[in-house]
Amino acid sequence: MNQFPKNFVFGAATAAYQIEGASDLSLRGPSIWDTFTHRGGTIKDGTTGDSACDHYHRYREDVHHMAGIGLGGYRFSLSWPRILPDGTGFSNQAGIDFYDRLIDLLLEQGIVPYVTLYHWDLPQALQDKGGWANRDTARYFADYAAKAFTLYGDRIRHWVTFNEPWVATTYGCIEGIHAPGIQDLSYAFQSAHNMLLGHAMAVSAYRDSPSPQGEIGIVLNLHPCHSASESEKDQLAATYHDGFLNRWFLDPVFKGEYPEDMMRLYEEKGCMPEVLEGDLSLLKDNPVDFLGINYYFRFIVQHDDAAPLGFSEVKPTGDQVTICGWRPYPEGLLEILERVHHSYRVPKILITENGIAHQEQPHVHGQIEDDYRIDYIAAHLEVCLRAIAKGILVSGYFIWSLLDNFEWADGYIPRYGLIHTDHTTFIRSWKKSAYWYRDVIERRGLS
Ligand code: FCB
Repeated sequence: MNQFPKNFVFGAATAAYQIEGASDLSLRGPSIWDTFTHRGGTIKDGTTGDSACDHYHRYREDVHHMAGIGLGGYRFSLSWPRILPDGTGFSNQAGIDFYDRLIDLLLEQGIVPYVTLYHWDLPQALQDKGGWANRDTARYFADYAAKAFTLYGDRIRHWVTFNEPWVATTYGCIEGIHAPGIQDLSYAFQSAHNMLLGHAMAVSAYRDSPSPQGEIGIVLNLHPCHSASESEKDQLAATYHDGFLNRWFLDPVFKGEYPEDMMRLYEEKGCMPEVLEGDLSLLKDNPVDFLGINYYFRFIVQHDDAAPLGFSEVKPTGDQVTICGWRPYPEGLLEILERVHHSYRVPKILITENGIAHQEQPHVHGQIEDDYRIDYIAAHLEVCLRAIAKGILVSGYFIWSLLDNFEWADGYIPRYGLIHTDHTTFIRSWKKSAYWYRDVIERRGLS
């Protein structure tokens, strides 16, 4: 079988800070990513997302490209500080109007909008009050979410609360390589807990909103965590890594509990977050309608006494490695899909991100021949077909990304887009993969 079901959504994804630009204070409040990129020494090529792809001014052209490719869905995020410059309190009408125009245009073109509420750009004013480690941030987030439901809920039927809380807290607050650039295990785990709390509060706010007819879910980055060897120590390390990365989020969202082995480990390491009575039942009482999976690669894990939590990643030589240091492993997507289907009984699954980057040369003559991207996407789409054949409810696939954009700590070096962006002139040009994806969508299948 190489045909996708009739309702399968073929899409592409982006995020506000990575594409919008228009960072002028008259257009939005500052976020932690403005502070972080402007700190200097934080981004590989020394760039910022100040202009990014200038999508704020060029969204019409971008929607035109989406329609040309034939996208059925477009996943993007709202910039919280564009709507509420200080995160709470007064709102910015220009920002509200921008998303109104974007949503209306998408719908006019028959492209279904999938809206992420939080893709990492916390308003700086809230970081100044303690960021995600401050429990109040969960409430501020739920209030902002409620505002978005009121503003756009009449037209938006697909909502995502958080994008990858693991990455936001691990890269941002353990490794310090993403905003807010903190290195503190306790701060990180408290932040992750407060994000989950904010997630549950937002789901609850959605059910009480004026237009609750759509669906709401969360997006998690999930990875197989395989042991580096047969040794008992490495196998236990892989189980812990899986707990740290996958179960720490899947268990509370789908079961309303934290995994016991991980709670014991975090108690031992002195970094177990404060969980108040009622927090976990709030999660249990507010189930999601779908799970968004961002899938890129697997981890190979070893026991490591020198690592803060006792395990670390092994990077075998000889593997194919992307410019981001990631090892593609399409087979692992099936492993993840089978697992969430069987162990968590996830009601509906979307692949909300999947893609590959290279350092492609600037577009001078002709189109970029990104066959490696075509092969990567085809391999993952094939896995989706196999999962569907096994009765797993995968109902959509969103390529990361529509456009080459600001790739966080890696700046503009990795290019993930179906469409090449010239970051000086902002000219967009289709790569070979964009034409290929258009044909896949038209056929609704792989050839
Ligand atoms: C994911 C992020 C997305 C993008 C891709 C490459 O972790 O959600 O914004 O950076 O990686």
